[in-house]
Amino acid sequence: MEALEVKQPPYREDGAYVFHHPPKFLWDSVPEDARSWGAYHVYLHVPFCRQICTFCTFERKQLRKGALPGFLASLATELGIVQGRDDLQRAHIESVYLGGGTASLLPNQAIVDFLQRLREGFGLSETAECTLECEPGTKKECDFRFLIESGVNRVSIGVQSFSDALLRHLNRRHTVDHSVRMAIDARRAGVQNIHLDLMYGLPGQHAGDWETSIARSLELGVDHISVYPLIIFPHETLARALHQEDLPPVPCGAEINAMRIYAHEALTRAGYSQYSLTEYAQPGKECRYVKATWDGSDYLGFGPGAYSRNRMAVWENTVLHWQYDEMLIQGRKPIGKGTTMTPRVCMARDIAMGLCLLSVDLARVEARSGVSVEAEFGSTIEALVAEGLLSREGSILSLTSQGIRYATHVMKAFTEG
Ligand SMILES: C[S@@+](CC[C@H](N)C(=O)[O-])C[C@H]1O[C@@H](n2cnc3c(N)ncnc32)[C@H](O)[C@@H]1O
Ligand code: SF4
Repeated sequence: MEALEVKQPPYREDGAYVFHHPPKFLWDSVPEDARSWGAYHVYLHVPFCRQICTFCTFERKQLRKGALPGFLASLATELGIVQGRDDLQRAHIESVYLGGGTASLLPNQAIVDFLQRLREGFGLSETAECTLECEPGTKKECDFRFLIESGVNRVSIGVQSFSDALLRHLNRRHTVDHSVRMAIDARRAGVQNIHLDLMYGLPGQHAGDWETSIARSLELGVDHISVYPLIIFPHETLARALHQEDLPPVPCGAEINAMRIYAHEALTRAGYSQYSLTEYAQPGKECRYVKATWDGSDYLGFGPGAYSRNRMAVWENTVLHWQYDEMLIQGRKPIGKGTTMTPRVCMARDIAMGLCLLSVDLARVEARSGVSVEAEFGSTIEALVAEGLLSREGSILSLTSQGIRYATHVMKAFTEG
């Protein structure tokens, strides 16, 4: 009997997941309306770094002397404007994420003051998760001891790799020793939830480097590990350096997939569970803030370039520092652009981004958008189930193991369909 030829569809494998929908080029403006907040999450974007990494497209600038005090003064104004305008009567913050850029460049007292403002005016309670994102080498044990007192209970460390040579290729400022020191210091200070970021598919990275990164992370006994496939953005420094052969090449697609599978097996064996495309946690140590950004919850962002969502509206603060300052001086919310989603667009976003958490509850998605999944995306779901990329049980729609590998393709079926 002749074997049937199985044609592989031209799926992408580059992990360039759908991070926003509708796509940002369609964002125009949202009114600087008063918003009403219930259960929600808060993000602070600190848009400065000590050194700029070649792979990074986050909103950030090289830190210059004197920039932080100016930023903190503007932040205080922004907090005042939002507090004065929005309805925070029933506001209850479930998680706070201090990210960036490099949030750990903030002086300890500034972090304490920010959290105190949230407690006084924005509904922050003692039970909220509160994460400080840290670049290795920027905080020590005594800093963490001080910060725990003010409510920081989770620390996320940008380790990326346990090879100094690979870190140098990425123009990281720190070394492996700084990463190890920071994880040990955070634990000694009493941080109960320590998170490491690792990247694979790096220039010059071999399977052995990746296995070492995973093994050393496990040795540190941390609670949460993120494993990100390197995304190479066209026109960025890294793409140029690779093109000009200034760096060793990145591994091929098959090697990158083998690294993904290696991490999954090693982390699962060590007791971590995968709860998103890139996140693994010990039981009970999943990040509430990460889940909220994917599951359609409301979140309020402060700082230049910070994102927010309030029901059908999504927006981004202006990324231009001068404009951010000027709008605040005028007493305005510093919103750059945004959009109010139609019910169908909202549903597409909530399914596509919700699948980052591996499965999505369609009943919840319907309740938020007010339209029917069957009417809007019934045939899309049916086709993806037939292709073996999704499975459905009642109202729960899940990525299969093939679906996890080709997640970008699955998401785009909703956002581009
Ligand atoms: C805001 S950064 C981390 C905090 C801090 N600035 C640092 O670098 O240590 C968030 C994480 O996103 C990941 N990341 C950034 N750019 C990436 C890219 N191009 N591809 C894959 N992961 C990326 C990195 O693991 C990084 O630690
Ligand atoms: S330190 Fe973090 S935010 Fe800054 S450039 Fe590097 S990866 Fe990006």
